[in-house]
Amino acid sequence: MTVMAHDKYTKENPYLTKLLENYCLNNEGSSKDTRHFSICLDSSGIEYLPGDALYVCPENEDGLIMKLLGLLELSKDKESEFNRFKTSVNITRASNKLYKLIAAKTNDKYDAKALAERFNGFSIPNLLKELKSEEPSLVITSDELVENSSMLLGRAYSIASALSSHPGEVHLCIARVDEEINGQKILGVCSNYLSERVDLNTETVRVYVHNNDKFRLPENPETPIIMVGPGTGIAPFRAFIEERNFLRDQGKKVGQDWLFFGDQKQEFDYLYANELKSYQDKYNLKVSTAFSRDQEHKIYVQNKMQENTAEIFKLLEQGAYFYVCGDARRMAKDVDQALKDIVKEHGKDPEAYIKELKDSKRYCRDVY
Ligand SMILES: Cc1cc2nc3c(=O)[nH]c(=O)nc-3n(C[C@H](O)[C@H](O)[C@H](O)COP(=O)(O)OP(=O)(O)OC[C@H]3O[C@@H](n4cnc5c(N)ncnc54)[C@H](O)[C@@H]3O)c2cc1C
Ligand SMILES: NC(=O)c1ccc[n+]([C@@H]2O[C@H](COP(=O)([O-])OP(=O)(O)OC[C@H]3O[C@@H](n4cnc5c(N)ncnc54)[C@H](OP(=O)(O)O)[C@@H]3O)[C@@H](O)[C@H]2O)c1
Repeated sequence: MTVMAHDKYTKENPYLTKLLENYCLNNEGSSKDTRHFSICLDSSGIEYLPGDALYVCPENEDGLIMKLLGLLELSKDKESEFNRFKTSVNITRASNKLYKLIAAKTNDKYDAKALAERFNGFSIPNLLKELKSEEPSLVITSDELVENSSMLLGRAYSIASALSSHPGEVHLCIARVDEEINGQKILGVCSNYLSERVDLNTETVRVYVHNNDKFRLPENPETPIIMVGPGTGIAPFRAFIEERNFLRDQGKKVGQDWLFFGDQKQEFDYLYANELKSYQDKYNLKVSTAFSRDQEHKIYVQNKMQENTAEIFKLLEQGAYFYVCGDARRMAKDVDQALKDIVKEHGKDPEAYIKELKDSKRYCRDVY
């Protein structure tokens, strides 16, 4: 059996490569920092399809590792310790196992559950610093910390490019996580690693492809597609649109592409606006936008769907595929409800209709 390159490079054996591009997609004045990344696949032989995801294996920030090493009793020499904390251990968030270890080491002066609540938002170095100031006799070795922490895992990202348009490259669209919990600044490990700590054109990034056969373009390109992707949810749809435009350039007959995109403000947060505008002119791409914070009341992608119920239903009846990507917690649920409402409005049983769409793989979701 032939081993494909994307099977060769895995979680255990990621491909070591270079970051080619890293720029912000939001305009100055935005409250968000959403980045476009281009990663080199040059000689790897790695191939991917629109709909696939790329895993990026992050590294911890040097300053945070040094802070941690200063708070532990080291089991190995400092360089070895530094290296293992750089790539293998999640040091930005304590596990329940670590809280239990601390409770045991302090003869239950602390309760593990209460610790977890109190230190929600804390990185492990900040947690240990605080506890050691209260309980100077608390000693944790680096081996104990490794054994009682979660591993630093690769993060999945929906691929935002089609290989046909960008041979030898893979593109990502990533929201940099910068938030505050419990008074602590949370800088997401992987989104900040790629955004802030990787130099361009140096072989340092470790990646592997994840096939996602549940999120594919229709086999027949003449089939219309409806894509709902607010925020970073636009990522796989950039790949879909590029792939279908490539087919159009080859003279193939391709059905309607309709994108529902939303974000906070049109002036600052219209991701890939210029590209999308050029595709609207050149390839008849249809784009419906919902900028939630450009007016007093919120307008979301599902509100734009509600303004277009007849047309959406007509396309579904013609065999259109319906795709959703982005926030799972709120958006995907509301969009699902909006879709059901459209079906109901047109006299069909929503549960049965949606089941049929799902069974025929025409309702595909990539939500996180
Ligand atoms: C299939 C799939 C596709 C995806 N595609 C995309 C994409 O295209 N673009 C994109 O931007 N993202 C995408 N994601 C999300 C992505 O995988 C990451 O989850 C995201 O980038 C955050 O990772 P991070 O390492 O930067 O943040 P992390 O360090 O993992 O932090 C994530 C969250 O964990 C919480 N947290 C972290 N530390 C603490 C702490 N000490 N205490 C309490 N809470 C804490 C915070 O809520 C924080 O926001 C996708 C996910 C999946 C599963
Ligand atoms: N920490 C931060 O600063 C920060 C900021 C943004 C996103 N995030 C997180 O980062 C991840 C990626 O964010 P993202 O850039 O992809 O954008 P996102 O947060 O998913 O937002 C994209 C758009 O969706 C809107 N939205 C919110 N609730 C919705 C709903 N129920 N239905 C439909 N649309 C809805 C948002 O509006 P409103 O936001 O105006 O309600 C915004 O206009 C998310 O998990 C998000 O929670 C963090």
